[in-house]
Amino acid sequence: MTTTITLTGAGGQIGYALLFRIAAGDLLGPDEKVRLRLLEIPQGLGAAEGAALELQDGAFGLLEHVEVTDDPAVGFDGCDLALLVGARPRGPGMERGDLLAANAGIFGPQGAAIAAHAADGVRVTVVGNPANTNALIAAASAGDVPAERFSALTRLDENRARAQLSETLAVPVDTVRRVPIWGNHSATQFPDVSHATVGGRPAAEALEAIVGDVPTWLDQTFIPRVAKRGAEIIRVRGSSSVASAANATIEHVRDWVRGTEEWTSAGVVSHGEYGVPEGLISSFPVRSVDGEWQIVEGLEVSDRARAHRRVGRRARRGARRGAIPRDALKGHRAGSEQGRMDAGGAR
Ligand SMILES: NC(=O)c1ccc[n+]([C@@H]2O[C@H](COP(=O)([O-])OP(=O)(O)OC[C@H]3O[C@@H](n4cnc5c(N)ncnc54)[C@H](O)[C@@H]3O)[C@@H](O)[C@H]2O)c1
Repeated sequence: MTTTITLTGAGGQIGYALLFRIAAGDLLGPDEKVRLRLLEIPQGLGAAEGAALELQDGAFGLLEHVEVTDDPAVGFDGCDLALLVGARPRGPGMERGDLLAANAGIFGPQGAAIAAHAADGVRVTVVGNPANTNALIAAASAGDVPAERFSALTRLDENRARAQLSETLAVPVDTVRRVPIWGNHSATQFPDVSHATVGGRPAAEALEAIVGDVPTWLDQTFIPRVAKRGAEIIRVRGSSSVASAANATIEHVRDWVRGTEEWTSAGVVSHGEYGVPEGLISSFPVRSVDGEWQIVEGLEVSDRARAHRRVGRRARRGARRGAIPRDALKGHRAGSEQGRMDAGGAR
């Protein structure tokens, strides 16, 4: 079998980090051949073509073909997996409305091109920020492709949360499970430790033994550290998160395709679960079963999570300039609410 993978923003930083891992089999395993389509804008074509030359020099046995293009019709032709990484960053002095309008101009046409040219079972992962809103715009523009085939990356935030817990508890990170992200990949996200387990046991007791006052630690240390980790990386490294974002993208897509036993987090379309308005794309605890994300239902939502959601709602009400341009959603009723949900700003 050969899987056709389309990567937008292939000439950018995350694109560069993703391509070689995909070609090496990290995404789909050592037996699955891949065909890569690198979609860029004209200014990014040189960097994407350079990456394609390096892919050739990598002599990857799994890589059947690489095509570089700035034409979405060619880029999404026969695409099984679309990784939408290229996005318009927020420039100096740019208002949120301008950012959303610029990204609507990217993700609307890409959604339409996916509907017209991609394979029937296409799965679309949106990484470019604001990821949840961009996923909604693409889904709303994608005609008959079900909205469930679009998801937004919040796995990086989950990984950051699990890593912080692992460091605090001095336990291996792979023993820390069930730390879902609710909401957005933005400052109003909520990393939720209330269901966390360490080695299969509830993390709460271990946390109390180490940090003492758990609620204060959550509010003053853990949640701000996770939510502001992107800014911390920029301060220390002098550049935004790249390899960790690429790694989270690989894990998100691999889990979606291959399935999960344990929970993870992804921005997926709401059918009203946990009171999130129907049609919004929001991060939930999810499992992947038979190639489809399923929201983990029936969880008790802690008072802290509820309080956080109230703060998020206040922020959304205050964000008067956050609505997605109406024509980008063709009357999609969740549109303006989604635009306000990303009020915390993309990182
Ligand atoms: N969801 C997450 O967890 C997460 C984490 C980190 C970064 N991000 C986001 O990922 C995106 C990419 O980050 P990066 O560091 O690679 O940025 P980058 O600026 O290095 O690369 C972006 C690339 O996208 C290309 N591009 C722009 N518009 C395009 C279009 N219409 N079609 C195809 N390509 C297009 C640009 O030419 C550029 O090469 C950013 O929006 C960033 O905020 C998301």
